[in-house]
Amino acid sequence: MALFLLGNLGVIWAQASLATKPQPQSLIQIPALKPWQKPPVTFSHQQHEGQQIACTTCHHEYDRGCNRWVQGQPVKLCQECHLTRPQADRPDLKNAFHQQCKGCHLKRRQQGQQAGPIRCLDCHRQT
Ligand code: HEC
Ligand code: HEC
Ligand code: HEC
Ligand code: HEC
Repeated sequence: MALFLLGNLGVIWAQASLATKPQPQSLIQIPALKPWQKPPVTFSHQQHEGQQIACTTCHHEYDRGCNRWVQGQPVKLCQECHLTRPQADRPDLKNAFHQQCKGCHLKRRQQGQQAGPIRCLDCHRQT
């Protein structure tokens, strides 16, 4: 079962590099960190789009500090730029996810807005 799942993810990830439209929902896991400490995280584009969050809030390609990526361009996966170790100008992949995902959820909670989870088990759910 695990192998079957991974096989499918491989396909999704291979195609994702060229995609301009997101999957409604996907399962995120960092291949390079296997064996994992936590179950993978379900991420729903559909649900986040429903919250009127711009694509550029999460997707970026920086050029001298400016985000040059615009909606309609192919999307590079986070793992193409964020590695297992931090680089001088950017966080490692795990922290890139945690900063972006938890960061927004936390900020919105503090502002009294509707937000996603911040507890480990609410994102890393056993399916
Ligand atoms: C709240 C954050 C967030 C928003 C908003 C968001 N995305 Fe994504 N998107 C992600 C994440 C996370 C991934 C998975 C990246 C990975 O696996 O490295 C992803 C993956 C993708 C992919 C690759 C295929 C896939 O579905 O895995 C495409 C294409 C994409 N997004 C397009 C868009 C577009 C177009 C919008 C705006 C309509 C958008 N995204 C809005 C976070 C977001
Ligand atoms: C094309 C390469 C590239 C891709 C793809 C990419 N990043 Fe980044 N990311 C960077 C660079 C470069 C920086 C540092 C930017 C700076 O501070 O000038 C960065 C910075 C960040 C930061 C620090 C805060 C910020 O926004 O500046 C977070 C968090 C982050 N990325 C998360 C993600 C996530 C999550 C994804 C996938 C949805 C992703 N990144 C995809 C290159 C990339
Ligand atoms: C810019 C803000 C923002 C970012 C970035 C963001 N989220 Fe969210 N997230 C939200 C909001 C707002 C909701 C509330 C949606 C709702 O209640 O319908 C939410 C809801 C969720 C939920 C709960 C959905 C459910 O089934 O109830 C999960 C899980 C989640 N986010 C995971 C993630 C992950 C994983 C990432 C990073 C890849 C991420 N989020 C990035 C704002 C954000
Ligand atoms: C808002 C959603 C969210 C929350 C909350 C969250 N994470 Fe994550 N975490 C992610 C995403 C997305 C990834 C990248 C996908 C993956 O590898 O599971 C990740 C990756 C990881 C990884 C690396 C992969 C692995 O399993 O070894 C660890 C460890 C981890 N998280 C631990 C935690 C812990 C501990 C907490 C609570 C303190 C936590 N996370 C809370 C979204 C979240």
